Amino acid sequence: MPIALGKLSPPSDDKRWKIVGATMRRHGFSRNALIETLHTVQQSFGFLDRPSLQYVAQSLRVPLSKAFGVATFYHYFSLKPPGQHTCVVCLGTACYIKGAPQLLGEVEQSLGIAPGETTPDGRVSVLTARCVGSCSLAPVALFDGEVAARLSAKDMQGRLHKWVSA
Ligand code: FES
Repeated sequence: MPIALGKLSPPSDDKRWKIVGATMRRHGFSRNALIETLHTVQQSFGFLDRPSLQYVAQSLRVPLSKAFGVATFYHYFSLKPPGQHTCVVCLGTACYIKGAPQLLGEVEQSLGIAPGETTPDGRVSVLTARCVGSCSLAPVALFDGEVAARLSAKDMQGRLHKWVSA
């Protein structure tokens, strides 16, 4: 019996794939959305690995070699993982209104780094996202892919402290 071809599943159930999926949907899964989609993966995960390139290439029906070509051509893209841990602060409207800027302020204070940067010891990378689809839980951040809801600056401080002192 033929297997029904459904929607491709992302490489993991990490919430950040929703953001990537939203970018592809917004462009009607057009091949022309390759760079923009890879940009979203880079922004959300801090790097592009083989499973993510494969997923994007298959979803947009472009050859994997083309996705690799784009990823290696532009300096903006990185094929290596960022820090040991990744914190993604949502900067979508709901999260922004409910205190995302204070969360980023806490990150800067605790780690001395800005979004898009990794601590000098390679422990923690901090990224931002536009909306991770959990607006009712705002403000949210993802700690190694796990959503943390209604975060306060103090919660953020505690979580980062655990990572840097582990
Ligand atoms: S705005 Fe942050 S989850 Fe939607």
